[in-house]
Amino acid sequence: MRSEALLLYFTLLQMAGAAFPEDSEPITISHGNYTKHYPVFVGHRPGRNNTQRHKLDIQLIVITNRTLYIAARDHIYTVDIETANTEEIFFNKKLTWKSRQPDVDTCRMKGKHKDECHNFIKVLLQQNDDTLFVCGTNAFNPSCRTYKTDTLDALGEEISGMARCPYDAKHANVALFADGKLYSATVTDFLAIDAVIYRSLGDSPTLRTVKHDSKWLKEPYFVQAVDYGDFIYFFFREIAMEYNSMGKVVFPRVARVCKNDRGGSQRVLEKQWTSFLKARLNCSIPGDSHFYFNILQAVTDVIRINGRDVVMATFSTPFNSIPGSAVCAYDMADIATAFTGRFKEQKSPESTWTPVPEEKVPKPRPGCCAGTPSAEKYKVSNEFPDDTLNFIKMHPLMDEAVPSIANRPWFLKTMVRYRLTRIAVDNTAGPYRNYTIVFLGSERGIILKFLAKISSGFLNDSLFLEELSIYNPEKCSIDGVDDKRIISMQIDSKSHSLFVAFTSCVVKVPLSRCERHGKCKKSCIASRDPYCGWVSEGACREITSTKWPFEQDVDQGNTDGLGDCQNSFVALNAFTGPIDSL
Ligand SMILES: *[C@@H]1O[C@H](CO)[C@@H](O)[C@H](O)[C@H]1NC(C)=O
Ligand SMILES: *[C@@H]1O[C@H](CO)[C@@H](O)[C@H](O)[C@H]1NC(C)=O
Ligand SMILES: *[C@@H]1O[C@H](CO)[C@@H](O)[C@H](O)[C@H]1NC(C)=O
Ligand SMILES: *[C@@H]1O[C@H](CO)[C@@H](O)[C@H](O)[C@H]1NC(C)=O
Ligand SMILES: *[C@@H]1O[C@H](CO)[C@@H](O)[C@H](O)[C@H]1NC(C)=O
Ligand SMILES: *[C@@H]1O[C@H](CO)[C@@H](O)[C@H](O)[C@H]1NC(C)=O
Repeated sequence: MRSEALLLYFTLLQMAGAAFPEDSEPITISHGNYTKHYPVFVGHRPGRNNTQRHKLDIQLIVITNRTLYIAARDHIYTVDIETANTEEIFFNKKLTWKSRQPDVDTCRMKGKHKDECHNFIKVLLQQNDDTLFVCGTNAFNPSCRTYKTDTLDALGEEISGMARCPYDAKHANVALFADGKLYSATVTDFLAIDAVIYRSLGDSPTLRTVKHDSKWLKEPYFVQAVDYGDFIYFFFREIAMEYNSMGKVVFPRVARVCKNDRGGSQRVLEKQWTSFLKARLNCSIPGDSHFYFNILQAVTDVIRINGRDVVMATFSTPFNSIPGSAVCAYDMADIATAFTGRFKEQKSPESTWTPVPEEKVPKPRPGCCAGTPSAEKYKVSNEFPDDTLNFIKMHPLMDEAVPSIANRPWFLKTMVRYRLTRIAVDNTAGPYRNYTIVFLGSERGIILKFLAKISSGFLNDSLFLEELSIYNPEKCSIDGVDDKRIISMQIDSKSHSLFVAFTSCVVKVPLSRCERHGKCKKSCIASRDPYCGWVSEGACREITSTKWPFEQDVDQGNTDGLGDCQNSFVALNAFTGPIDSL
C-alpha cells in the first residue's frame, strides 16, 4: 500500500515536472484531541434523558434563514443556528415522515433488507418563502410533499417522487427549483436502469432526457445542479461512450439545458429536451503523459471571484485504485465556450468518435435556446425544424473537454489514505471579506482548509492552511461502528462555522482556531489565516471587523523579527505530525 502510493506520488511528480507543487503540508494541524469539544448534533431533543442513541442515517443538510435542516431517515430535524453553541446541539423541531406499512411490505417482498425499507429524505428544497419541498425514498416507492417552513406542518397531498427522487438511498441525485419549476436528476425505476434529467411542476411541459439512450446518459452519478443565466447546468460522472476501445472508463461531465425549453415537435423529441448538451471536464496534470482525475466527487455553486464566475470541484482516482484527489476550478465562460464548439459523433458502431464537420451542423444550431439571437426566428423550442431536433437527438456530446483554470489542478492530495469528497467555499473570508477559503471534506473525517491565492494569476496557486480531524467517536459512533465519511458540508458565515454532516451526527466546526496560537505572535502571523489577527491585547483572535487595529500578513506570512515562543503549538505539530498520512 505504502509503496504503491509513493509510486503514484512520484509518477505524478515526474509527469508534472519540476513546476508542479508537491503535496504540501498544512501550516497548522488540529487532532481529534483538540476538536472533540466542538458542538455535535446526534438527534436529541433538549431536556430529555438522552442516553439512548438511535440510527439517524443523515442524508443531507441545508441552511436557510438561520435554520439548519438535517434530512435523515424518516425524519427532518431543524436546529436554530444562533443557539447551536453548547457541547451538544439539540433540535428545535422534528418532522416525522415514515413509509406506510403497505409500502414497507412491498419493499420487503421485493427482497430489500428491512433497514432499507424506510423513508430516506433525499430532496429538501426551499420552494418559496414559506414552503419546503421534500422527497424521500419511501421504502423504494419515492414520494414528495410540501411542508410549512416554520412549523413543519404538511401541506397538501403526497405526490409521486418518480424522476424526482431515487428509490435507493445509496443513489446520488440532485434537484433545484428555478422559476417555480423543479429540475431533478436521478433514476426513475426500482432497478436504477433509467437515468433521467427531468423537469416538472410549474407551468411548463414536463420534459426529460431520451429514455434508454446511452448517448445521452450512461450510468450517471449526479453531483450538482446550478441555475446560471439562461441555463440549468448539471455536473455528474458517467461511463464514457466515446471511450469504447478499452472497457469501461468513467468521465466527469457538465451538461446543460435551456430554462425556456418546451420540448420538441410531435415528430421529434416530443416531451424531451431540445437543448441537452454535455461535455467532458478536464482535470489533469500536464506533462509528457497525462494523468486524469476522472471521478468527480463534488462541485460548488457558482462563485464570483475577482469578477469571474467559477465553480470548484473535487475529483479523485477510481475507488479500486490508490487514493489520490485533486481540486480543479472551471470558469463558467469556458463551460459556455465548450457548448459552442464542435459536436462529437461515431459514424459507425465500431469506429472511433470524431468531431462533426461544421458544414454538417444544421441551422439553427442544435442546443441553442429558442428566441435567443442564434435562433431568433423560433420563439418556442417545438417550432425548431426536424433537422435541428434530429441532430441534437443523435449528438448531445461536445468534442472538446472543458479546460480547468490554469490547465491543472490547483490543489492535490496524493500522499494520504483517503479521498477528498466534499467541498465548501467562503469567498468573503477575513475582515475585508476579500479572501477565498476552501474547505475540503474526506472519507476519513478529515477536513483540509486552504487559501485560494489570487495575487499572482487566477486560481493557479493555493496555500494549505489547516488540517483538522473532526470526527468525534465518543459522540458519533453507533454500536462501536464509526462511519467517518463526510456526506455534506455547509458554511454559515454569520456564526463563523462549517456544519459537517456524517451519517450519524453533525459537527459544528469553527472556520478558524486563532486561539490555538495563544500569546505567540509569531505563530499567529505565520498561520496566514485571513480569519485570524494579532490584537493589541497581545493575543491571536478571530477578526470580524476592521474597526479595531490588528496585524496579519496573509499574503507573505512574514515573521521576521518576531521571537520564537516556548510551547507554541506550531512547534507541537512537528512532534505529532500530519493526520493519516502515509
Ligand atoms: C490525545 O490525548 C491522549 C490522552 O490525553 C494522548 O494519549 C494522545 O497522545 C493525544 N493525541 C495527540 C495526537 O495529541
Ligand atoms: C436515563 O435513562 C437510563 C436508562 O433508561 C437510566 O439508567 C439513567 O439513570 C437515566 N438518567 C437520568 C439522568 O435520568
Ligand atoms: C425567517 O425566520 C424568521 C424567524 O423565524 C421569520 O420571522 C421569517 O419570516 C423567516 N423568513 C423566511 C423568508 O422564511
Ligand atoms: C486536458 O488538458 C490538458 C492540459 O491543458 C491538455 O493537454 C489535454 O489535451 C486536455 N485533454 C483533453 C481530453 O482535452
Ligand atoms: C484585502 O484587503 C486588504 C485591505 O484593503 C489588503 O491589504 C489585502 O491585500 C487584500 N487582499 C486581497 C487578496 O485582495
Ligand atoms: C500563476 O499565474 C501567474 C500569471 O500567469 C504566474 O506569474 C504565477 O507564477 C503562477 N503561479 C504558479 C504557482 O504557477
